[in-house]
Amino acid sequence: MNSLVIKALAFAAVLIIGTLVAVKSMNVNMDDTINQLTLLGAVAIAVLAFGVSAKYINQMKTDTATGELVDHNWDGIGEYKNELPSGWAYAFLGTLIWTVWYWLVGYPVNAYSQIGEYNQEVLEYNKKFEEKHKNADAATLKAMGESIFLVQCAPCHGETGDGLSGKAQDFTKRMSKEQVLNVITNGSDQLKYPMGAMPGGMASGADAEAIAAYVAGGMKGEQPAAFGVCAGCHGMDGKGNGGTAPNIAEYDETLVTAVLTHGKKGVIGAMPSFKGRLTPVQEKALASYISTIK
Ligand code: HEC
Ligand code: HEC
Repeated sequence: MNSLVIKALAFAAVLIIGTLVAVKSMNVNMDDTINQLTLLGAVAIAVLAFGVSAKYINQMKTDTATGELVDHNWDGIGEYKNELPSGWAYAFLGTLIWTVWYWLVGYPVNAYSQIGEYNQEVLEYNKKFEEKHKNADAATLKAMGESIFLVQCAPCHGETGDGLSGKAQDFTKRMSKEQVLNVITNGSDQLKYPMGAMPGGMASGADAEAIAAYVAGGMKGEQPAAFGVCAGCHGMDGKGNGGTAPNIAEYDETLVTAVLTHGKKGVIGAMPSFKGRLTPVQEKALASYISTIK
């Protein structure tokens, strides 16, 4: 045996003894077959790794090449016509077969997924939650709405729902004059009401001002004649004709649900969509809470 191989095996022996000492000092239970096998594996890997690398280092030092040179040479440097090593070729083929097997039988097509399991559990839980609160009374809904609101909505709308000095919708009133004017002028097509989009330019000048002041004021007092053009869709009382257009007099479930699903961009800013993050009961709860804030 060559001195390099002996050195390598000696090094492996030191590693193995070190491992044994560590195992002893950690009080590992060596009656356990798994531990025995693990230790055996570690010894085998150490011997093989050092033995094999020593063999090849040795070979690189002493080997002289044999074989036939290709006709071509590059600035005097030639190249051997080496056969593809069969071990390499089989390993390559094996890898290809394994790849196909892994995709189809193993991960990802057939895989167990922790995220999948989590989603499944959330779905099942949500179903139970929906079932449990299917007929929740008004007080339960309002309390539920308030607690969701404090977590999900208060960062923008404020703890009391006052919109944090104009940063988001102020729920103590349905809408500001500026917001109504903006929609009258530009129209809106975000909430997917059955009526479709609200066209822009519905009114202008003094008419628009009067309508906006009336709507922003909570639709109290004398109704401006020009409101007639709005009533066709929103109803004389502004409540939205059974949900075909938004209720502009107050908050109702249809409006809050539509805003939560689609999000909304307006003069104040952008309200993010909460699609898929709240269950129907939770949306209903939020609507019932918001409608009581004023
Ligand atoms: C053709 C039917 C129609 C007419 C007429 C109409 N609207 Fe609308 N309006 C809608 C629809 C539909 C929406 C929802 C738009 C959306 O999906 O974003 C809407 C939205 C609104 C909104 C925004 C509500 C919100 O919470 O975002 C306001 C304010 C409004 N309309 C006021 C008016 C006023 C004031 C008039 C009269 C000048 C008027 N609308 C006339 C159909 C109409
Ligand atoms: C990232 C900030 C932000 C968060 C979080 C947020 N909102 Fe909003 N919301 C806004 C803004 C901004 C507006 C005003 C949009 C506009 O200019 O019309 C708004 C408007 C609204 C409106 C009124 C829309 C209309 O047409 O009148 C409702 C209802 C609403 N939000 C409900 C909620 C609820 C419920 C939550 C919690 C689940 C929530 N928001 C969370 C920013 C936010």
